[in-house]
Amino acid sequence: MLAVAILAAGKGTRMKSDLPKVLQPLAGQSLVERVIMIARTLHADRYLVIVGYGSEQVKKALAHIPDLTFVEQHEQLGTGHAIQQVVPYLKDFTGTLVVLTGDSPLLRAETVQDLAKTHEQSESAATVLTAVLPDPSGYGRVFCDQYSYIERIIEHRDCNAAQRKNRRVSTGVYCFRWADLAAALPRLTTNNDQKEYYLTEVFNFLTPVLAHDVADYEESFGINDRQQLAHAYDVLQARVRSRWMDCGVTMILPETITIDDTVELAANVTLEPHTHLRGNTKIGAHSHIGPSSYIENSTIGEHCTVLFSVLTHSQVGDGCRVGPYTHIRQQTVVGDRCRVGNFVEIKNSQLGSLTNAAHLSYLGDATLGSHVNIGAGTVTANYDGFNKFRTEVGDHTKTGSNSVLVAPITVGKNVNIGAGSVITTSIPDNALAIARLPPVIKPDYYDDQGKKRAVQTEN
Ligand code: UD1
Ligand code: CA
Repeated sequence: MLAVAILAAGKGTRMKSDLPKVLQPLAGQSLVERVIMIARTLHADRYLVIVGYGSEQVKKALAHIPDLTFVEQHEQLGTGHAIQQVVPYLKDFTGTLVVLTGDSPLLRAETVQDLAKTHEQSESAATVLTAVLPDPSGYGRVFCDQYSYIERIIEHRDCNAAQRKNRRVSTGVYCFRWADLAAALPRLTTNNDQKEYYLTEVFNFLTPVLAHDVADYEESFGINDRQQLAHAYDVLQARVRSRWMDCGVTMILPETITIDDTVELAANVTLEPHTHLRGNTKIGAHSHIGPSSYIENSTIGEHCTVLFSVLTHSQVGDGCRVGPYTHIRQQTVVGDRCRVGNFVEIKNSQLGSLTNAAHLSYLGDATLGSHVNIGAGTVTANYDGFNKFRTEVGDHTKTGSNSVLVAPITVGKNVNIGAGSVITTSIPDNALAIARLPPVIKPDYYDDQGKKRAVQTEN
């Protein structure tokens, strides 16, 4: 039997945040969500999450993850005290308890699986995931006997100068034979600098305890402050980028590109500098994104270019050219081989295939057919100050420059709208529509020096 306990009750004072520390977002997921996702790859029989500081907020944030049991730690008296709270929940339990801290999001699933396997094979009372760090400041130091069995773990602040030189640290990830841990937990004291119940004190009472070094020490980083949060983001991003480069994605100046790990990229995608891909974004093969584009929860087809643009919650078909400086948002669907260009904003609209809006337009709540040409400066007036209304434009219709379509309105197929028209009524198929005053031209209004003539001719 396997149970997992995740420590998530601490406030995270060093973060200086309104959020409980474990809810700090890191590349689209909170710290503790990441740890839970790693833990779930163990396929354990039970998952216990110890919550305390901001517990309602933490439970709400994790409500979408099934099969979690929340254990309340009303007062945060230390990591040992936190694990004491799970005792009533594991009364009938025999087997291994894996303990993870909610602030170590850089662990790899394979590392935790490896640790669990090593522990099962070793038949030790506990196995500790350890790391040898270039700078071990802040971590509990691990002291072993001549056979590499752990004798004790001493927290940084309780170490003397000589002990602080030890660079082998505890990562805060452990496997325990539950029966042994349960017997040792009542023996914890608060004899330490912080006057807390430290989980690491149990190693004074358990034998044998095995140290299992992690190969990549970056996995062990615990996130306690904003600097470490920023560093963790760097580490995760480097991993995500190298994974996609291995899958055939080209990145130009990769360290300027950020990609959530929920993003999916096809082979032969090119990402230019300062491109940021967020949430459930998917990019099709041979598409070229950036420089400087932000795409969130959107799907881009194959063979597209997106240049200096922002796209959120939208879809773009195959062979489209987007940008520079386009904003596409709120459930917009752009068909295949469309061109959406400079300073064009499209909101909650559908564009059929081969439709263009190349310059200076706002299309909101509009449905455009295919082969439509939206002239420079065309605007859908979709809002009367109270409600939003829809605009429909049929296939092969062209709108002149600076035309305004006042919604609700239906413009038929194959319509031509004259430049500068303000269209307030629907237009049937195949019509020419012009809504503007003829120009007033007054000949000889000025003399050759540009002065207004004294006597004007009226016509
Ligand atoms: C802890 C370990 C240290 C290890 C390091 C690895 C102890 C005493 N120290 O130190 O040996 O090197 O992690 O990152 O265990 N928490 C609770 N309830 C509490 C206190 C903390 O649930 O009463 C949770 C926190 O939310 C956090 C985790 O336990 O997720 C670790 O607590 P933290 O204060 O960050 O411990 P460290 O000082 O980093
Ligand atoms: Ca920590």
